[in-house]
Amino acid sequence: MLEPWHVPCSGDAMRDPALSSLLIFAGVALSRCCAGAAVTPEFIYGMPKAELHIHLEGSIDPEEYIGLVARNNLQSAYGTAEAVRLRLRHATNLDTFIEVYQEMLASMRTERDFHDVALACFEHLHAQHVVHVEMFFDPQMHTTRGIPFSTVMEGIDSARSEAEGRLGMTIGYIMCFNRNRTAASAMEILEASKPWLPRILGIGLDNNEEAGFPEKFKGIFARAGQLGLHRTAHCDVNQAHSVDHIWGCLQLLGVERIDHGVNVLDDPRLIETVKARRIGLTVCPTLLYTEIPGRLEFRAKAIKRMLDLGLLVTVNSDDPGIMRGLYVSDLMAKVQVAAQLSRDDVVALARNSFLISWIPDSERKLDLRMLDDYVASHPQ
Ligand code: HPA
Ligand code: ZN
Repeated sequence: MLEPWHVPCSGDAMRDPALSSLLIFAGVALSRCCAGAAVTPEFIYGMPKAELHIHLEGSIDPEEYIGLVARNNLQSAYGTAEAVRLRLRHATNLDTFIEVYQEMLASMRTERDFHDVALACFEHLHAQHVVHVEMFFDPQMHTTRGIPFSTVMEGIDSARSEAEGRLGMTIGYIMCFNRNRTAASAMEILEASKPWLPRILGIGLDNNEEAGFPEKFKGIFARAGQLGLHRTAHCDVNQAHSVDHIWGCLQLLGVERIDHGVNVLDDPRLIETVKARRIGLTVCPTLLYTEIPGRLEFRAKAIKRMLDLGLLVTVNSDDPGIMRGLYVSDLMAKVQVAAQLSRDDVVALARNSFLISWIPDSERKLDLRMLDDYVASHPQ
């Protein structure tokens, strides 16, 4: 089978974990010692930013999973957080990742569970100076387990209003349909979501990248457009036909953003089109429990290249519960070191996160001003 996440990277050094650690260490030293150009982790953490690619279900960490299993009296093959962590080592490509993702999310049963998982995630993001969140959730992965759509929506919506009130964040939800399920099943959920539409920002596509994606979702995306919803889609990294899939999402689905979208860089015409149409690219330079040497560096360098090309790229957390508990600011700091980002580069990442977010322009203006004030009050 294709090893989709075991990506080639330029330079043998990145294939050698020892040498790669040495380069990262040298990078940290450099980024700290060059007078005038210093980018400290503190600066990165403190920057106000938006999180645009995080999955409710992928935010469940091993401790949270154990707590939910106990609270719901569920049977689980994993009795301790340590056993869960061992299981998460199984996720080494998109298919095995989805296997563990499904196991983790099966711990959520009640409205309270959905509320608690979402709220814990918002608290993590708040601690990383995220001021605006657009969070994915996967309704089909719950309704097919017998959980009513209303249970999911009531739980996550009460978490949203609590976090907005108590933490001062702004929050929206993106309903993700599974790429490996039928268009009919997606349409059923889309129609059932109508009572909640004022509280849903947009739709997306995730899960295994197969079976007719993206063509089969043309009708769903057209309908979502009629309903006034924003539109995005995952195009995971180095999948079979990644470039064709990105073209399809742009031409057939009318997406405003691509989630991941690293393979845009493989096609000069795609680069031009994505730039001209101001398509947002939500890249996730995450670390798996089974670390794949070179994977983070490959994504970090792609981010740097996108920044240099003037593309609207952002750094995002994706599935922090399954990916070592790392959130957006942790990942930005790693990318800064791995790709030697300048201070202007890291500020551009935060600026892009507001530019491509689906907030009203009046709020966008406030968020951008907050970022400008932060930068001005942290002289180089
Ligand atoms: N890709 C595809 N499906 C997913 C992802 C992802 O990044 N995260 C959760 N489900
Ligand atoms: Zn994702």
